Amino acid sequence: MPKNPPQKRNIPAELRKKGSAARQMLTRAVRYARKADAGKHWLPYKNDRAFSQAPFYEGLRDSIQRRITRGKGKIRVLDKGAGIGNIAAAVKRMAPEKIVTTAISVSNSYTAENRPLIDKTIRGIGLTSKHGGKYHIIYDCHGEDYHLPKELVKHSIENSIARLVRGGELFTVIPYIFRRSIQVFDKAEALAMVQELSQRPDITVETKTIPKRHDKREYADLVIHVTRKR
Ligand SMILES: C[S@@+](CC[C@H](N)C(=O)[O-])C[C@H]1O[C@@H](n2cnc3c(N)ncnc32)[C@H](O)[C@@H]1O
Repeated sequence: MPKNPPQKRNIPAELRKKGSAARQMLTRAVRYARKADAGKHWLPYKNDRAFSQAPFYEGLRDSIQRRITRGKGKIRVLDKGAGIGNIAAAVKRMAPEKIVTTAISVSNSYTAENRPLIDKTIRGIGLTSKHGGKYHIIYDCHGEDYHLPKELVKHSIENSIARLVRGGELFTVIPYIFRRSIQVFDKAEALAMVQELSQRPDITVETKTIPKRHDKREYADLVIHVTRKR
């Protein structure tokens, strides 16, 4: 055992501190996302997915449908990293009188067709923007969690969980690659992060791995479904 094991980083505290390493990482990630939103990046970046193309489509659709059938009150849904707003609009169409949609994105790329179907739009960074209220469902489809450096991802997921009502659900997706990377999780790191989350007594966590290939490189999307216990 080393005499002085490395201290675990306190990401929430770092993010509150101006000029900290975590704040700088977040700034770089957001600058990248804004550029990509404006179509000025060479990496593949899709911000107009149809609802059915979301990697957690069936789980999300069924969860919303169950809530529509079962509940009397409004169903509050947050789209984290909403792109042009296709998914939020499709979710709203499932039950326009029952579903209240909120979308957050670092830029304002919603189409004129989708905009009326989004009840509230927030332009800002998911991790640091202070918008009130709790949600029955939060989903993040290749949005914030997917584009954050790995050091910030667990905090981002925990941030979403804190915004769920009891019985609420989070659907998100993160990438991992099969070799070690400074920015992106490798497989062991991604699974360890999920394992750590699973230790929490107030949630259940399910995952699904979707193997992918880009530029002859193997990687995987790890789909994460968290339910906050009642
Ligand atoms: C690749 S697009 C995906 C859009 C949409 N969800 C889809 O699947 O088509 C990424 C989206 O996430 C947003 N985004 C990226 N980083 C973010 C962050 N830190 N906070 C909030 N939104 C972020 C971008 O503004 C953009 O809307």
